[in-house]
Amino acid sequence: MNLNGTTINRLLFRAEKVYRKEEPSLKTGIHKHPTFDTWFLVTQRSTYVIGATADGYLVNLHWGNRLERLDDLNATMQDVFFSQNPPPTYATEELPVFGGLRFRDNVLKAELPDGTRELNLLFAGNANITEGYILDVDLRDGYRTELLVTLHYELDIENDIIRRSYTIRNGLDKRINLSKAFSAAWHLPTALGSDEKREILTLAGEWAAEAMVESTELRPGVTHVVQSQRGFPSHVSYPYFAIRQVPSDVNPSTEVYFGAIGWSGSWEITAHTSLFGTTRVVGGMHHQDFGWTLEPNESFTTPIFVAGFTSEGMPGARKLLPRHVRKYQQKNLETQKDSNVFHPVLYNSWEAVTFNVTAEKQLELAEIAAPLGIELFVIDDGWFGDRNNDSAGLGDWYVNEEKFPNGLKPVADRVHELGMKFGLWFESEGVNPNSDLYREHPDWVFYYEGIPRYEARSQLVLNLALPEVREYVYDRMATLIAENDIDYIKWDMNRPWGEVTMHDYDRNPREAWVLSIREGFYYIVDKLKAEFPKLWIESCASGGGRMDIGVVEKTDQVWTSDNTRPDARIMIQYGASLFLPPRVMYGWVTNSPWDEGIHIPLSFRFHVSFQGGLGIGSNIHEYTEDELEESAGWIELYKKIRPVIQNGDLDWLVQPSRMSELVAVSQTTSHDQSEAVVLGYRFNSPFSTPLNWIRLRNLDKSARYSVKVWTSSPHDVDEEYEMSGALLMHKGILLTSLNNAQFKSAVVWLKRN
Ligand code: DGJ
Repeated sequence: MNLNGTTINRLLFRAEKVYRKEEPSLKTGIHKHPTFDTWFLVTQRSTYVIGATADGYLVNLHWGNRLERLDDLNATMQDVFFSQNPPPTYATEELPVFGGLRFRDNVLKAELPDGTRELNLLFAGNANITEGYILDVDLRDGYRTELLVTLHYELDIENDIIRRSYTIRNGLDKRINLSKAFSAAWHLPTALGSDEKREILTLAGEWAAEAMVESTELRPGVTHVVQSQRGFPSHVSYPYFAIRQVPSDVNPSTEVYFGAIGWSGSWEITAHTSLFGTTRVVGGMHHQDFGWTLEPNESFTTPIFVAGFTSEGMPGARKLLPRHVRKYQQKNLETQKDSNVFHPVLYNSWEAVTFNVTAEKQLELAEIAAPLGIELFVIDDGWFGDRNNDSAGLGDWYVNEEKFPNGLKPVADRVHELGMKFGLWFESEGVNPNSDLYREHPDWVFYYEGIPRYEARSQLVLNLALPEVREYVYDRMATLIAENDIDYIKWDMNRPWGEVTMHDYDRNPREAWVLSIREGFYYIVDKLKAEFPKLWIESCASGGGRMDIGVVEKTDQVWTSDNTRPDARIMIQYGASLFLPPRVMYGWVTNSPWDEGIHIPLSFRFHVSFQGGLGIGSNIHEYTEDELEESAGWIELYKKIRPVIQNGDLDWLVQPSRMSELVAVSQTTSHDQSEAVVLGYRFNSPFSTPLNWIRLRNLDKSARYSVKVWTSSPHDVDEEYEMSGALLMHKGILLTSLNNAQFKSAVVWLKRN
């Protein structure tokens, strides 16, 4: 059986006949057509339809605006085929495989026992709908019926998002090898007009310059690839995309398709648009050097790839994805269940003392931090082994007795007495060759026999896929957490992977790419969360190197960047807020940049960190009385507005730009529109021009709001007035204090009367 033109035409014909009939309105949830193998996945504002062709191929029939009736399908059917292109190439298969007459990007490539590298997956006749929002559809290989794939769809109805993954099962009596196992293919409908353009937004970056929004036109015939091959998601790009129609005079489209992969290892997303305007996006775990062997009766499940649709432009996409991520974080984590438990204001001494952590210094800092209103005190790198700089000690998870002569417990106890939680830094995937751990176990790292081991930041990567390695790491962490009443850990990771392999393993050595995450990083994080349900975990990888949505569903927060310079941070937060819920995205107030010539007021620094979880990273020991008092004031104000900040939707009213150093404005609004916090930043005023009115969004038009504005001091309200929601949205507010200013900022708190 082959997917050919006749089959597709037959499907169209059948669809016309069936769907022209009057059918009842489609409710949200997943519905099977009463007669045909067609499933409607209906969310609040979108519909996704899949169906089996007459020959059994599972194809996408619609993805976009919500359909009201089954007969609507006919109007949105994709039917672009060209005689010189084999239909499988353009068919909107839900799981396009390598092989056959498929010449566009595929999702799955397998090598069968006889050397064939081709599958022919057909609907196997079974599909299960669970609880109205989960659909599992079985596909079976047409040639070797013992090979099964189950496609998994899970709807987030309120956020118009579908979570996809699949499981492949080897029912043959021989092993098969997978060399590519992406998670999903997404098919966007034909762009609105043949001359019109689609644009893809992705997040580029570098260390200390993470999550920079890039947009590029999707040119026909050009494949756009974003990826990380570093073993972790990395700073260079993020597993995120958004594709929008470029509005034109005749089509003012605001439709956006967006998605993200939940995988904390190497990943790849590929988007391709044909000359006829159809776009396909595929993605999942990076396929370069990927390998997985399936022995008889074994199965392999891919990570999730979530995607959604909105007709509300990028603000819609920016609202839905973070809400979705937050929803699953809450589902998974005990620590996140209660939205009224807020992320703590933390202090971390890394930028203040780097590796010079001693009990004495940390206690001094803790005594200063507590009265400021700090709720979590974190000791960063340097507390263990022979760790006085980054060239030694990593891996030796034993408290350094010179620095902490009585151990950590007395420090933790004092921190607790001061009313703060106690946190500790780990980098559990790394090891310095100059460490007792490495001297004892040189074979616990990734290496190739006979080749010098490449070091970066003087370290190698532990192979956490080895049970003895992960158990050592888990044991040390769990012991320290239990012995010292640790409430929070920062899990850092500073070394991209190389020489990834398994030794003494009679399967595919490439499996290490997946095993080290699933059986290593995820295993330890999940086990710690199970053992210590109240433990908070922060994901950090030299700053924002690991903040994919997968890690956010397993941990509480991320360290967004090592760059704490506030003007840079705004750019980073602008990009990261496309997929991160605001409470997850931590920012510290520090003294960066350390260049004497650049003065950025403390107020500006605080206001930048007010966009997400708030931390202080300065050397508060050197703060003046005034600075301490001001900090305490801003922390007090933050605590008042954090229910909105941490649970609301972070939107941007004026976009920061790398080319313009003038202004950026964000607005975070509570879901019920009763409160909002607007944060305005003026970087410079080279033309002395006053700021224009800034129109707010998402408020209750008919309500009146009381508005309070703070700029330089938390103790003085600069302006206080009342305004209707309609006026705030249609006319806006004037941030007069930002006129003719440099590094000046404002906090505006709006409350419905
Ligand atoms: C990189 C992290 O991003 C920093 O915050 C700090 O923890 C250092 N590592 C410590 O080595």
